[in-house]
Amino acid sequence: MRSKAVLIGVAIGLLPWAWTAFAQAAVDREKLLKDPGVYGTFAVFKVEGDWWKLDKSARGAAAAEVNAVFQKHAENVATDTYLLRGLSDRADFFVRVHSTEMLHNQNFLVDLMGTTLGKYLQNTQTFNGITKPLNYVPGFSEDLQKVVKSTAPDPGPKPYVIVVPIRKDAEWWNMSQDGRSAMMKEHTEATVSYLKTVKRKLYHASGLGDLDFITYFETAKLDDFNNLVIGLERVRENRHNKRFGNPTLLGTIRPLDEILEILAR
Ligand code: HEM
Repeated sequence: MRSKAVLIGVAIGLLPWAWTAFAQAAVDREKLLKDPGVYGTFAVFKVEGDWWKLDKSARGAAAAEVNAVFQKHAENVATDTYLLRGLSDRADFFVRVHSTEMLHNQNFLVDLMGTTLGKYLQNTQTFNGITKPLNYVPGFSEDLQKVVKSTAPDPGPKPYVIVVPIRKDAEWWNMSQDGRSAMMKEHTEATVSYLKTVKRKLYHASGLGDLDFITYFETAKLDDFNNLVIGLERVRENRHNKRFGNPTLLGTIRPLDEILEILAR
């Protein structure tokens, strides 16, 4: 009888733990990073000067608070963090948030901004987009499709991140699908030699902000990226970029802990 009571007691004691473990099961990150129909938000922050006047222990405690917010939302959003500080005069870091509902991205960012650190953050830019199935590749020649689909980026670390917001002109959107497709073929041909060193991801942003696309890249070779963009500036499709960058974000991919450690130093 006594042991039954003990068992029930233990079960009740475990309930909150089991619930928390269930409720905080992390989102399927791999799936979110590859599926179409996923919402991506890029939130860029600058740390205000007063932050650095706080004593080190207060900044350490504030960092722990931020960590807790990331944990709390891990069931709904997949997050990636990037350091801009030192490479940008406008911002210190940014967070890329993915989820199946823009509302989850918003809830996470609202909580982040509500932390002690958040009160010292200036949100200098936010880009919102959605991932979609390929628009042009299915219409390319079999050879080009094969190259694009079968050439994976080389394994190994790619420490650099580049994010380029793009807006197309009205002429681009009023062109026939065939006309755009011909230009995207040129775009793709100019880029294939960089498929191994530049990993990329495309977000469609029309109507979700002032952009049409958010282009995201990871690489270990910034010299390749530089040449890639020069190559793309020479193709006809580039004439239809009404906005290219402004701002372009260049930073390094860093775990949250490392960014918080830099901010707590
Ligand atoms: C390794 C380098 C790159 C490769 C292999 C590549 C390839 C491609 C391909 C195949 C598409 C068509 C996707 C589809 O079928 O919907 C595409 C779209 C696009 N790319 Fe690139 N690209 C690269 C770099 C870049 C760069 C550096 C930029 C600009 C910063 C860029 C901007 C875009 C944009 C805005 C689109 C969407 C066009 C549209 O849907 O109207 N790409 N790219």
